[in-house]
Amino acid sequence: MQKVKAIYPGSFDPTTNGHLDLIARAARIFDHVVVAVLNNSQKSALFSVTERVEMLTEAVQAFENVSVATFDGLMVDFARQQQAQAVVRGIRAISDYEYEFQMALMNRRLAPELETVFMMPAEKYSYVSSRLIKEVFRLGGSIEGLVPPSIVLRLRERAKRNLGVSDGEI
Ligand code: PNS
Repeated sequence: MQKVKAIYPGSFDPTTNGHLDLIARAARIFDHVVVAVLNNSQKSALFSVTERVEMLTEAVQAFENVSVATFDGLMVDFARQQQAQAVVRGIRAISDYEYEFQMALMNRRLAPELETVFMMPAEKYSYVSSRLIKEVFRLGGSIEGLVPPSIVLRLRERAKRNLGVSDGEI
């Protein structure tokens, strides 16, 4: 039987428990999942691509059928290079849908053989995004339980390194 490989592309700046929840769900239905970090120097990111790959690699250690890679250029080109049949994207709320729908249809035009599969994370993560994690942390709010503990530590280290002050600042 043919094995089905999926790409899970994103920025992952940083990885959240919502991403990990989705990876766990995808790992249950696909033979292999490649978590693909966009290597885009134009997009202002808090963590470097190397750091993001490190964080993800640590976080997906428990999954035998999940690997982490980086890509640049078109996602569909990377998917072809990987010989993947599917691309996984998370939908948290209806507000995600419009952008995701546009992207899925553009990707379908570019690579009709690649199927986009939308998956929902657990409800408890439905409001979690990397952007909000960074904002709440920067303003001193608690992000415990929303990202892996190792990422809380990295954010704290980053805050200390950048400002030489409190935990709550990036
Ligand atoms: O985590 P994000 O930022 O929502 O992920 C967006 C991502 C990386 C999946 C998307 O921007 C992407 O695929 N970029 C690669 C360039 C590309 O293929 N653009 C055409 C999309 S239709």
